[in-house]
Amino acid sequence: MTESAFIHRFEPATSAGSPPLLLLHGTGGDENDLVGLGKMISPGSALLSPRGRVLEHGMPRFFRRLTEGVFDEEDVRRRALELGDFVADARQQYGITAPVAVGFSNGANIAAALLLLKPDALAGAILLRAMVPLSDPPKAALDGKPILLLSGQADPIVSASNSARLAALLSEAGARVDHKVLPAGHQLSQADVTLSRDWIGDVEAKAAAADPRSSKKLENNPIHSSR
Ligand code: MLT
Repeated sequence: MTESAFIHRFEPATSAGSPPLLLLHGTGGDENDLVGLGKMISPGSALLSPRGRVLEHGMPRFFRRLTEGVFDEEDVRRRALELGDFVADARQQYGITAPVAVGFSNGANIAAALLLLKPDALAGAILLRAMVPLSDPPKAALDGKPILLLSGQADPIVSASNSARLAALLSEAGARVDHKVLPAGHQLSQADVTLSRDWIGDVEAKAAAADPRSSKKLENNPIHSSR
């Protein structure tokens, strides 16, 4: 892997029909944070889970911010492209197809930026408590990519108008956006897990209908960790 390498964890797929997941943690998290969530929502998927390379008072993040909800957009762009390079390298190294991102909070925001800046890097995304990452995003061609956006009605960090704007931005770029507002705050709830699991199941079923060979079972492989 090149200099773009992030500290990360990789777990191989146990079912060829399940899409690989790119797990992107929130501020202060690491590569282990969302592995449990990934296994709950798609038990057979390969899991690729990098640690954000920016430190804010020692807490890992995926890009710099000036203050809560105000982003250093130059850094957002640079870091999103770096993450795209990492995904491309990891796809080669581990032999996986373009992953579906599963991002929470800061991880959801970098996933949204990656979708807008480098749409081919991802097959789709589950964005948990995401907000608009760039005030002047480029025109992206998301060409029917499936995106599940789950927002919290009482989220003190992401306003209802901001998440609605993100949903509109992604839809206008051609994505198939499913936006749901849950009776929750910024933290995740059981409803996030259930809705994400059902949504991934649907994505898998559609892929299997398009290519029936993809549902073949794989052997169980050991866990890899890499720095
Ligand atoms: C961000 O900085 O990406 C958002 O404010 C979410 C957070 O990390 O608190």
